[in-house]
Amino acid sequence: MEFSVKSGSPEKQRSACIVVGVFEPRRLTPVAEQLDKVSDGYLSALLRRGDLEGKAGQMLLLHHVPNMLSERVLLVGCGKERELDERQYKQIIRKTIGTLNETGSMEAVCFLTELHVKSRDTYWKVRQAVEAADDSLYTFNQLKSNPGETRRPLRKLVFNVPTRKELGLGESAIAHGLAVARGVKKCKDLGNLPPNICNPDYLATQSLQLAEKYDTITTKVIGEQEMAELGMNSYLAVGRGSHNESKMSIIEYKQGDASGKPIVLVGKGLTFDAGGISLKPGAGMDEMKYDMGGAASVFGTMLALAELDLPLHVIGVIAAAENMPDANAYRPGDILTTMSGQTVEVLNTDAEGRLVLCDALTYVERFEPELVIDVATLTGACIVALGHHITGLMSSHNPLAHELINASEQAGDRAWRLPMADEYQEQLESPFADMANIGGKSAGTITAACFLARFTKKYHWAHLDIAGTAWRSGGKDKGSTGRPVPMLTQFLINKSGVSVEE
Ligand code: BES
Ligand code: MN
Ligand code: ZN
Repeated sequence: MEFSVKSGSPEKQRSACIVVGVFEPRRLTPVAEQLDKVSDGYLSALLRRGDLEGKAGQMLLLHHVPNMLSERVLLVGCGKERELDERQYKQIIRKTIGTLNETGSMEAVCFLTELHVKSRDTYWKVRQAVEAADDSLYTFNQLKSNPGETRRPLRKLVFNVPTRKELGLGESAIAHGLAVARGVKKCKDLGNLPPNICNPDYLATQSLQLAEKYDTITTKVIGEQEMAELGMNSYLAVGRGSHNESKMSIIEYKQGDASGKPIVLVGKGLTFDAGGISLKPGAGMDEMKYDMGGAASVFGTMLALAELDLPLHVIGVIAAAENMPDANAYRPGDILTTMSGQTVEVLNTDAEGRLVLCDALTYVERFEPELVIDVATLTGACIVALGHHITGLMSSHNPLAHELINASEQAGDRAWRLPMADEYQEQLESPFADMANIGGKSAGTITAACFLARFTKKYHWAHLDIAGTAWRSGGKDKGSTGRPVPMLTQFLINKSGVSVEE
């Protein structure tokens, strides 16, 4: 979809549709009032007759409003003016996009960006609108024989800003929003692809193609032989039960003169997690194709970064493998020597993510990173703790944790920090090896992070557990969310220090 910004009055727009808001109860927004005057009270008469109350998300599509240059006017209920918050704003935008898309307007001029959302500026409103629009029109039907297309889909959306002075803000909001949206879309596509197509080799091929597309990116792929030479025995053990070779892709982004230590992102890329010998129960096991959501989000973030051409040095690692039961699979009881030299007793082959990540996290030491963030659908316990709305964040470095929380709030892609106190480390003790790969029933998300912490002592590190936020389960709403691409991209925008111009 195409986006642009403009600053003008509603009656002078020549478009398929003009979108304006109405507050509850039956109160025109300033822009709607302007239209009302021009149309000799057409809108206020409708409201008096009770056609629209103004409840959040209500829609009323009008044709041939007097004295207008546009064919249609869409009145959008915005709820009570004082109650309009970020969440409601985004929901209203989504509803509006859906309505426009289904009612034949191929283009529209949207004045909802002029609504007052507490402590949010034009940049935020336009950017969130771009991201929400793209997100809500996403479909994954490339594998259906009859995709069923919308007849006259929405193609072009113009956001109006209150003053010409804000056009610059609006334009950078669109640029940033579009880059995030592209990253999110790629992340969703990779996630939604079935595990018989999206396997470790597929992710590696995609990573190599990214380097072909962008001059700023170079990619290197490591297969099982190189992993063996490097002593990545823990990573290798996880993939041993699969016929699909484990592959780790290293995607390096470097813009022009960006020098210095890189920011490193590491994504868990289990293209399918059957649990291995500690086999998972059958119900809903298909959803373990999403166990590469961390890797997909790292990939999407690298794409957004390249689109934005930020002056940074960033390395994205796609740690891909498949966890299957097999005669050759690793077993409970096995003791693995990790790349770091530390030994791990496997008590459950379904706690495989940390076994892949620990070697990937040791591998990235060679880059002498400024900081490392890993992203993983790591623990079901994270869903118990935080549900499906908020990502779990754990970090051994307070400033990094704060920067990530800030980015997550700015991007509307929230994370919440869980503690990682030393006491939890005791749960990982093993009588036979340096540590066990599980920490028992309590605080499963934290003990998983504590496990990773033992491999990240050489740099500043944060861990994002996206088990609850990477995809939506079951039903017709099922699918990848593209998270946490918005948070990570925002983090990088902040790191690059590019200012949002007015
Ligand atoms: N990929 C799963 C975690 C997961 C489960 C994410 C369900 C989202 C939904 C991970 O590999 C796993 O199986 N973790 C185990 C760890 C346990 C054996 C300590 C879990 O959470 O049950
Ligand atoms: Mn598992
Ligand atoms: Zn897993």
